[in-house]
Amino acid sequence: MTLQSIQYKDGVLTLLDQTKLPHDIQYVDCTDYEAVAVAIEDMIVRGAPAIGITAAYGVVIGALQYNGDKDFIIYMQNVITRLSNTRPTAINLLWALDRMSQVITEDVNQSIVALEKLAQHIYEEDKSINDRIGKHTLPLIKPNSTFITHCNPGSLATSALGTATAGFYLAHAQNIQFKVFSDETRPRFQGALTAFELSQAGIDVTTITDSTAATVLQQQGVTAVIVGCDRVALNGDVVNKIGTLPLAIAAKFYNVPFYVAAPTPTFDLMVSSVDAIPIEARNAREVTHIYDNKVAADVAVYNPAFDITPNSLITGLITEHGIIDAHEQAIAKLFEEVKA
Ligand code: MRU
Repeated sequence: MTLQSIQYKDGVLTLLDQTKLPHDIQYVDCTDYEAVAVAIEDMIVRGAPAIGITAAYGVVIGALQYNGDKDFIIYMQNVITRLSNTRPTAINLLWALDRMSQVITEDVNQSIVALEKLAQHIYEEDKSINDRIGKHTLPLIKPNSTFITHCNPGSLATSALGTATAGFYLAHAQNIQFKVFSDETRPRFQGALTAFELSQAGIDVTTITDSTAATVLQQQGVTAVIVGCDRVALNGDVVNKIGTLPLAIAAKFYNVPFYVAAPTPTFDLMVSSVDAIPIEARNAREVTHIYDNKVAADVAVYNPAFDITPNSLITGLITEHGIIDAHEQAIAKLFEEVKA
């Protein structure tokens, strides 16, 4: 059983506080949409799919808070704007908010019912996406294979099995022996979350520093690298947690396949290349301090939260509909088929 990062019941959104993991398992209850927005900003909840799901419930909570003192539609637009301004890079946030905004009408009660239903649907749909990505990943996980993953594309970042980790959970359930190296992922250590959740599930996982990944690729007979993503452009370039690009470059050098688990809600067909995607700049303290311990001098810090991996470094995008090439033609074809 994996820990659930998001739970909703009767107007209360309960989030597992990921800033406290793996030391403490603590939950935060949100009963107003501002608290939901702050939870996303402060990375109490994190990971592209989880951010989208949380924002969807934030809209529900915003609607429940409505006290009739202004026009409902304008009020809800403000709720959605506040939630959409929390984190800029993962497209799942805007994808979920856009879907939610489409069921809001002048009728407050009807809107609340429709919003609750849709948020629940987005949550359930994510579970099914996780499962299906896992099934498409499973054939890559042969007995005695070895993988590297980066950041946390796991159950904590989604509603269920994760994206890049889903195949690991399914393979483990089938008693397939394999090994995962998990980059620690400076500066926020999301890789420690991956090591935590995989080890809780009994999967053979080894934590490495980000700078050890190339050495593992050189020496450990790695079968493939599998990472998640925060946005995929129409041309197949991928935005994911900082550190993904050097991992992809090193994988290419050592001829190791590099896969990106990419749910369709994470594609942004409106941007033809990643140059148009806002990359979140996070604060210097994340780099100068490890938790509360100062580890760097007071010098300038450059701390982009994500990097861009060009499609030429990507072996395949593992979507819930199958593995496709990271190229515009394949992506456009997939979305045409899904629409039909
Ligand atoms: O800054 P974070 O922790 O929200 O970034 C998360 C990542 O980059 C994940 O790899 C990505 O969202 C995939 S989650 C299935």
